[in-house]
Amino acid sequence: MAEPMVCVDDFERFAFQVLPRNAFDYYRSGANDQSTLKDNVAAFKRWKLAPRVLRDVSCLDLSTTILGHQISFPVCVAATAMQCMAHPHGEVATAQAAQAMGTAFTLSTFATSTLEGIAEDAPQVLRFFQLFIYKNRDITRQLVRRAERAGFSAVCLTVDVPCFGKRLADDRNKFKLPPHLKLANFEGIDFKSSGVGSAKEGSGLDEYGASLDPSLTWKDIDFLKSITNLPIILKGILTAEDALLAVDAGVAAIIVSNHGARQLDTVPATIDVLPEIVAAVKDRCEVYMDGGVRLGTDVFKALALGAKAVFIGRPALYGLTYNGAKGVESVLRLLQREFASAMALSGCASVSDIQPCMLRHQTTFP
Ligand code: FNR
Repeated sequence: MAEPMVCVDDFERFAFQVLPRNAFDYYRSGANDQSTLKDNVAAFKRWKLAPRVLRDVSCLDLSTTILGHQISFPVCVAATAMQCMAHPHGEVATAQAAQAMGTAFTLSTFATSTLEGIAEDAPQVLRFFQLFIYKNRDITRQLVRRAERAGFSAVCLTVDVPCFGKRLADDRNKFKLPPHLKLANFEGIDFKSSGVGSAKEGSGLDEYGASLDPSLTWKDIDFLKSITNLPIILKGILTAEDALLAVDAGVAAIIVSNHGARQLDTVPATIDVLPEIVAAVKDRCEVYMDGGVRLGTDVFKALALGAKAVFIGRPALYGLTYNGAKGVESVLRLLQREFASAMALSGCASVSDIQPCMLRHQTTFP
């Protein structure tokens, strides 16, 4: 009989065993030496919990809100590209799992399922569309229009990709999207005649990388605001300085993120920069984080340091590999249970009870 899956790492081990090398390496890898990749996970362990006792935790409420929408617990699904390599139902299955668990799902621009397919097959899911701004602004306009029509509740603009990070495993594998799959939301978009690179079927992402606009500045947030009334989430903020500029630009939320350590290696772990960013923002927009969340205690720590919610990338991909929508649901349920346990054992009956004083950084111990 198959071993039971009792923690997120079990799903990763399963994915390692069953996925083709090309796909597993694409999902798992970080940039260059992968020093930030390791640190995203390790940094959580350097924060120690300071639990309180005798505080009636007989009835736990894990729910919270993001952008005014109720979610059943503060773990959402991050945008990750090319999910049909993990399971034939890809992003649709992941969205269905988020729907079943009452949390939010983000669709990557580089998805292998369409915006419209998510609306059709996971109609109730709270959904955000992860967006890039292209050299050809019409491509951005078209994608935003489709997101609006397909009932997406926010656009999540990724700002840490003026160019793609270097991932050694992908270079060694000469990574390509398997030929039977397509970047579904680019169907019908003529990258070649837009003069922004070619969109050859079955290619890797480099050709699409050429279409992203590396000349973007903070002024381009105004462009995005001019083409949509959807709330804007900025993904990829790592400094208090940029968080303040994001507040000034009028975004609804930021995601403290280093892109799952896939872009610039040796940047800090996201959990370590979260406190300075939360302090700078002072509640003027919502702050979420992603990167290295693998345990319920990680979720608890991020909330204690001021995040309103966390997003998971790879754990959802590994759940998807394990068993489609049911597998992603299992990963989310596992994190939900672990988070509930962390709350109860720390003396918190609701997420608003989770306070900064319930954490100590290990450097504060003799
Ligand atoms: C990503 N991420 C990402 N981000 C984004 O804005 N657009 C994208 O298309 C992708 N694609 C993508 C693919 C894969 C395979 C991974 C692992 C990640 C980054 C993602 O949204 C998120 O920031 C990280 O995955 C969070 O870190 P963990 O949870 O994977 O450690």
